[in-house]
Amino acid sequence: MNSTLKESILKHDRMVPRYTSYPTAPHFKTGATQDWLRAALERIPARTQISLYIHVPFCNQLCWFCGCHTRVTNRYGAVADYTDWLMQELDLLAPVLKPKNLEVRYLHFGGGSPTMLRPSDFRRIMSRLRKVFRFGVQAGISIEIDPRAASEEKFAAYEKAGVNRASLGVQDFNQQVMDSVNRSQDYKTCERAIKMCRDYGIKNVNIDLMYGLPYQTQSTIKETAEKALALDPQRIALFGYAHVPWLKKHMRLIQEEALPSVEQRLDLFETASDVFEGVGYIPVGIDHFCKETDSLVTALRENNLSRNFQGYTDDNCPYLLALGASGISRLGDVYVQNFVHLPPYRDRVVSGQLPVDKFCEMTEQDKIRARVIEKMMCTLSVNPLAEAARLGMPDHDFAGVYESVMPLVRDGLSRVSADGTIHALARQSARLVCAAFDQYLPVAAEQRHVSAS
Ligand SMILES: C[S@@+](CC[C@H](N)C(=O)[O-])C[C@H]1O[C@@H](n2cnc3c(N)ncnc32)[C@H](O)[C@@H]1O
Ligand code: SF4
Repeated sequence: MNSTLKESILKHDRMVPRYTSYPTAPHFKTGATQDWLRAALERIPARTQISLYIHVPFCNQLCWFCGCHTRVTNRYGAVADYTDWLMQELDLLAPVLKPKNLEVRYLHFGGGSPTMLRPSDFRRIMSRLRKVFRFGVQAGISIEIDPRAASEEKFAAYEKAGVNRASLGVQDFNQQVMDSVNRSQDYKTCERAIKMCRDYGIKNVNIDLMYGLPYQTQSTIKETAEKALALDPQRIALFGYAHVPWLKKHMRLIQEEALPSVEQRLDLFETASDVFEGVGYIPVGIDHFCKETDSLVTALRENNLSRNFQGYTDDNCPYLLALGASGISRLGDVYVQNFVHLPPYRDRVVSGQLPVDKFCEMTEQDKIRARVIEKMMCTLSVNPLAEAARLGMPDHDFAGVYESVMPLVRDGLSRVSADGTIHALARQSARLVCAAFDQYLPVAAEQRHVSAS
């Protein structure tokens, strides 16, 4: 990265959302009712395709960098109880959904660590899902794997269930970096987990890495990136560590003086990118690198790449139904989120109520801005006027947006072409361009988001 571009990124760096949705979750309203959710579910057309997300909010050990909705437990009873609640939630949804004969296109187990589930509980969830939904032969079934929790028995259950993609939480391979964030995991553990994926028929293996962790240097991240390549993943996600100790108290355990500066973060990202791109991985979105043959690359080239709460995806189903505490569903033009904390989630489902807490009904403005923001996050360029026309809103007034992108244009972070297309000229400037479209950001700024780099 040349020094002028770097200076510009440093100049404009500010706290902006990661835009896995628009409006972003902090802007959802409390007070979603069961009737409201049932009405939204009723609107799903019969025999259509749907995507499912199952949240498992448990881990064996807490990584101090963790920004996910999870908790540590060493008592399996807590996980088994949670599995019962998931079943009850599904039972509450079944009367509305089962008669619709919906086909699952994608199913994703996320967390937390879904590898916390014993094979018997994983099988229980799968068999109940199969009673409510149809699974096509093409169904993409994916799971987030904590490599330390991988076992032959679990993988045998994943194989039987038809799991065909796994994302491994690798983060880094440097001992000092991992020790500083309370994650005891080494290369051999990851290698063993990846071997299990392949032995049990999971050909699509993703690796999650992070940059911006304590003690990372260009030399350590280069070594980590090279070791990651030796594992031959299909996709690599290189997430920028979002340090939000005001939201996640355990992040205070991280030594702030050991965290890289914004400038160092740019160097870390660039060093790892060079390693991946050097051997032919294709950059996708703001933080992914994929093999040429990966479905995200195809989606990118065919203009079908999407972004949802789980990140980049080739899934463009308009209906994503999330089960479990904190799960966020997108049902057409509405979002709905379950209670984040376990006690209210549990109390609702055991008393026969859907555990919905927050919701958002997208306005016409939201819909067009959501489309523009998603496109920018996926392809790093967007023509808002063309997107508005595609949505049947050709008169949409974006004058203010073009004006607020101008400072980025002046500093070489963005370009506007003659037809009105806005380009982000660095992966780090895409979120800054998106922020120009975000009508909620002035309020959101008070809640603080994470550095754009
Ligand atoms: C929901 S976690 C699940 C992975 C699994 N629990 C594990 O850690 O092995 C998905 C990924 O989010 C990333 N992540 C977690 N906390 C983060 C943070 N504060 N900032 C950026 N990425 C984060 C990590 O790379 C992690 O692998
Ligand atoms: S990063 Fe993964 S394993 Fe670590 S605490 Fe978060 S969810 Fe659990």
